[in-house]
Amino acid sequence: MVQSGIIRLLEEMTLKEKIGQLQQLPGSCFEEDFVLTGPENFMNFTEEDLILAGSVLSITGAGKLKGIQKRFMEKHPHHIPLIFMADVINGYKTIFPIPLGQGAGFNPALTEAGARVAAREASAAGIQLFFSPMADLVRDPRWGRVMESTGEDPYLNSVFARASVEGYQGKKGRDGRADLKRKGSVAACVKHFAGYGAAMAGRDYNTVELSERTLRDEYLPAYQAAVEAGVETVMTSFNLMNRIPASGNAHLMREILREEWGFDGVLISDWAAIGEMVNHRVAENEKEAAFLAIRAGVDIDMCTRCYAGNLESLIEEGRVPESLVDEAVLRVLNLKNRLGLFEDPYKDADEEEEKTILLCEENRAEARKAASESFVLLKNEGILPLEDLEDAALIGPFADSGMIYGAWSIFAEKEDSVTIEEGLRKAGWKGRMAAGCVLSTDYPKVGMGGAQCFVEKDEARDEKLLNGALKLAKKAGKVILTIGELNIMTGEASSRGMLDIPSMQMKLLRKVAEVNPNIITLLFTGRPLDLREIAALSKAVLVVWQPGTEGGNAVSDVLTGKESPSGKLPMSFPYCVGQVPVFYNEMSTGRHYEPGNPDQFVSRYADIPNAPLYPFGFGLSYSKFEISEVSLSGDTLHLGAGDVLQASVTVRNTGSREAKEVVQMYLRDDVSSTARPVRELKGFEKISLKPGEERKVSFTIREEMLAFTGSDDRRRAEKGSFTVYVGNSSETENSAGFILS
Ligand code: BGC
Repeated sequence: MVQSGIIRLLEEMTLKEKIGQLQQLPGSCFEEDFVLTGPENFMNFTEEDLILAGSVLSITGAGKLKGIQKRFMEKHPHHIPLIFMADVINGYKTIFPIPLGQGAGFNPALTEAGARVAAREASAAGIQLFFSPMADLVRDPRWGRVMESTGEDPYLNSVFARASVEGYQGKKGRDGRADLKRKGSVAACVKHFAGYGAAMAGRDYNTVELSERTLRDEYLPAYQAAVEAGVETVMTSFNLMNRIPASGNAHLMREILREEWGFDGVLISDWAAIGEMVNHRVAENEKEAAFLAIRAGVDIDMCTRCYAGNLESLIEEGRVPESLVDEAVLRVLNLKNRLGLFEDPYKDADEEEEKTILLCEENRAEARKAASESFVLLKNEGILPLEDLEDAALIGPFADSGMIYGAWSIFAEKEDSVTIEEGLRKAGWKGRMAAGCVLSTDYPKVGMGGAQCFVEKDEARDEKLLNGALKLAKKAGKVILTIGELNIMTGEASSRGMLDIPSMQMKLLRKVAEVNPNIITLLFTGRPLDLREIAALSKAVLVVWQPGTEGGNAVSDVLTGKESPSGKLPMSFPYCVGQVPVFYNEMSTGRHYEPGNPDQFVSRYADIPNAPLYPFGFGLSYSKFEISEVSLSGDTLHLGAGDVLQASVTVRNTGSREAKEVVQMYLRDDVSSTARPVRELKGFEKISLKPGEERKVSFTIREEMLAFTGSDDRRRAEKGSFTVYVGNSSETENSAGFILS
């Protein structure tokens, strides 16, 4: 529709109709044609809400969705279509590794390709907008949602946020917008704005306090990268930000997002987050919450009646100008228009295509690549790759489990996963398998999407399972042990105080280690864990995260050496839980501690090391790489001159296998007007080298990469000396210096 048509439509709409556009309903409201009673309507939506709504969440299936859209439009006074939105996070039916695993892949091209696969699959099923990417910076592994993030680094998160947005929507055209009408593209929604990942003590939904500098320099860049990539929508977060709820925070939404960054898309609240301002005790009731949210800039109210029940009276009372509602509605109508819904309200929904596209070979192949590149080898005492599969026994509760995808894979079916056992069998393994224990008897019954992993304790059963596994382990040359966190132990509302694995899995590891020291641990996890004992009892530890549909094939590719592991940690793995948050890009203290320094009055723990067990950027390979000294194309950058420096190294594969390595560049501002991180990732490149092959890798250093919020609250680079590090982990000391003059 041409823009004047949209404006005319807006003028013709009644106030009630306009407010309807700002209402998002849960899909359950539409499960049976406009059924308004019973538990599915726990939020007391009215028949009128259902006729006038602007969007709906979590309905899928081309046929069903077309039926709902058709009936809906017939009843709507202006026949305005709904937008169908859903949480497609790391895949729709073909599931990719959890975002934390994708971060470990350090390969944004794979993430972009995966996002395209998800968009093609889900759009065939009728979904038009994804609540993804999550660009929250995460530093505390107790927080269950770290699995939805790409980790602890602002630059890494920015690169991945951009890759996801471009994968979902396509790249921006000359008009600064992606072509959302294109078949197979969906609108993206970056979340959770802002700072949700800094929930205090890692407890979900908890308070966030961040200085403006930390917010701007570390937490905001990844959301901003999504905005720059043209993301169509932004979701608020549940948390308080410096004592003002993010969903009523005009500083975040009006000043930073809209005015500074120029975002003109749709802002949607997180689920019920407007109403929760009453619980935060900054609004007396839902009406006051609606007042705060619309004033601060939230366009769509996700799943409460705060707007539907109160905006009209707020306007009548003169507290909210109708123009504020008009602006919000216009943004929603514009989004519908850009999606082409006024011409084709079903967009790409297609039952026939659903049959051919979902889980097709091509999509599975992408997921397999993404999974194998996400695995991080933390330890290997010469046991991997497996030259001889035959003498290996496969043990552990994940061995034949299809539940190897993350908590947000709510549309996935475990039957579609390739299990570890199946993957190994396809690679020719004929050995025996034993579960050894059930997944867990310690953790709750039902997780997101109804995932059920928990079983009741049963001593006789547990003993039988354990003995079966031990019998196998005794006879085998090696044991591939599949242990870790269950799907339901991570994700939203799954914060944990202990960074361990279920007790019976730990018991299994200890018992197996007594009869067979050759343990290759495949660690399934959605967060960094305390791996001290697991690593000590294993000859090799491969972190496979929650690898997704093709997990079994990807694991067999890596175990057999068809692929060398090439993942790097996107988040530090702590020494123990008492150390968190622990992250590489911390500030220098006034009392620096060097390991071995006996001085007591320095910044250190009396009982544990300062360093994490495995640092950010770390990950082993089956091959070996030599990285030359850093060579700089010059020693000076001139402030404001727009010049650049090249930092180069030559990387040589000195091992005997073709393998990939992630070359990482970090910068350090040696002295600055406000304290700066000890170093910050500013570039990386994943390269593949054959044995004996070498390649020059160069990174461009620009002035804007040196910018930060200075003591005058302005973002800019300051003159002085800098250090550039290039290596294959955040601990590299391979460095050179230059001056910004
Ligand atoms: C989550 C969001 C999600 C939304 C819609 C909320 O509980 O925080 O990440 O997109 O629900 O399902």
